[in-house]
Amino acid sequence: MAATSTSKMSSVALVVAVIIGCALKSQTLFHHLANYYHPLIGLAPFVTPEDKYGFKLNQVQSVDLRGQVALVTGANSGIGFELSKMLASQGAYVTMACRNPQRCFSAADRIRKEVPSASVSPLILDLGSLSKTNRAARTFLQNNERLDILFLNAGIVGPFELSDDGIEHVFQVNLISHHLLYRILEPLLQVSEHAKVVSTSSVAGKVWVPYGSVESYVPPTIEGLNEWNPTGMRVAERLLLYGRSKLAQILWTKYLTRRLGNDSTIHVNAFHPGAVHTALTTTKGVAKWVPRIAQRATIQMLGYLLWSSSLGALTGLYLATQAVVEKNIRGAYFHPQTIEVVNPYSLDETAQNNVWELCEIAVEKFLAQKELK
Ligand SMILES: NC(=O)c1ccc[n+]([C@@H]2O[C@H](COP(=O)([O-])OP(=O)(O)OC[C@H]3O[C@@H](n4cnc5c(N)ncnc54)[C@H](OP(=O)(O)O)[C@@H]3O)[C@@H](O)[C@H]2O)c1
Repeated sequence: MAATSTSKMSSVALVVAVIIGCALKSQTLFHHLANYYHPLIGLAPFVTPEDKYGFKLNQVQSVDLRGQVALVTGANSGIGFELSKMLASQGAYVTMACRNPQRCFSAADRIRKEVPSASVSPLILDLGSLSKTNRAARTFLQNNERLDILFLNAGIVGPFELSDDGIEHVFQVNLISHHLLYRILEPLLQVSEHAKVVSTSSVAGKVWVPYGSVESYVPPTIEGLNEWNPTGMRVAERLLLYGRSKLAQILWTKYLTRRLGNDSTIHVNAFHPGAVHTALTTTKGVAKWVPRIAQRATIQMLGYLLWSSSLGALTGLYLATQAVVEKNIRGAYFHPQTIEVVNPYSLDETAQNNVWELCEIAVEKFLAQKELK
């Protein structure tokens, strides 16, 4: 009896959700709002009129990547999975780096089934641990002569906790371990004629950052980073930690671009994929925040409103193509679909320096190591 009424309520919630979704989708008001409030640019399909796209989908989907060597982190699901599939469909050799072996192997198998010509290989990489990241990066370094495309894509949202390395966990997974991966693989990127490094950031780095000076919440020391603990704010805590790490990814991109210089053959850029229907927004996201009874309906409604994973991946894929070399796109931050947007916080050079400094301190001992241990 209880189950029947639960299922009825769930169906009603679903119908209501779909109606709200339809209404929102037809709202041209949102298109106009995006013109005034930049974080809305490309946020979801209903705020992104197709005539505003900077590229047509077939321009990106038809790019020839034969012979290119690519590595994608967080490749077993969501945007990382779609990026891996798209790169492989276009002829790249793709290493799919993921933390869970079973999920990694089955994701690679799925791509091989869907794209019989795909060349994909799994690599176990846990960004929650610097020593495991070090090991995975050095394994890749030993087995490859070149790297053309590096996607720093894996990401998590809070809560606040310290990793086994004694570093705030979200910041470590989203940025510091990716920094270590980049630093170890930089010599392989230098071999490539035109390497592209793409960081999956987020608009959260603009809208979910705490008030105050940028330098105070992206400090130059691990202690400073760990001190900033907004405990007690529950949802806000997760979002603020996430926002800080996503802003730091853009600051890192800009610092690295300065460090490499304008003649570098390595192009480093970041993007916001939009609000995308993935585990991050559904099972790992809203499902934690809405009552159980409304979860299915909410997730279905989000499926209707948000970008699909494949459309969410396209802006990142664009930044991995030759277009960035031809247009000399460096240290930029893009929103869907390929429109450059400026996050004003990311222009703070002191904060850019702080982020780099912080990452360097955290990974120092691993960079000093020459051999695979
Ligand atoms: N979805 C959105 O609306 C949205 C918006 C803006 C930015 N982004 C960014 O897009 C990126 C991809 O997220 P998604 O939306 O595709 O969500 P997702 O499906 O949850 O993908 C996240 C990936 O990161 C991996 N990951 C988590 N912790 C890891 C660790 N310790 N070591 C290695 N890999 C780890 C996950 O592995 P498991 O499967 O093992 O957990 C998963 O493969 C993230 O950086 C996210 O911040 C997403």
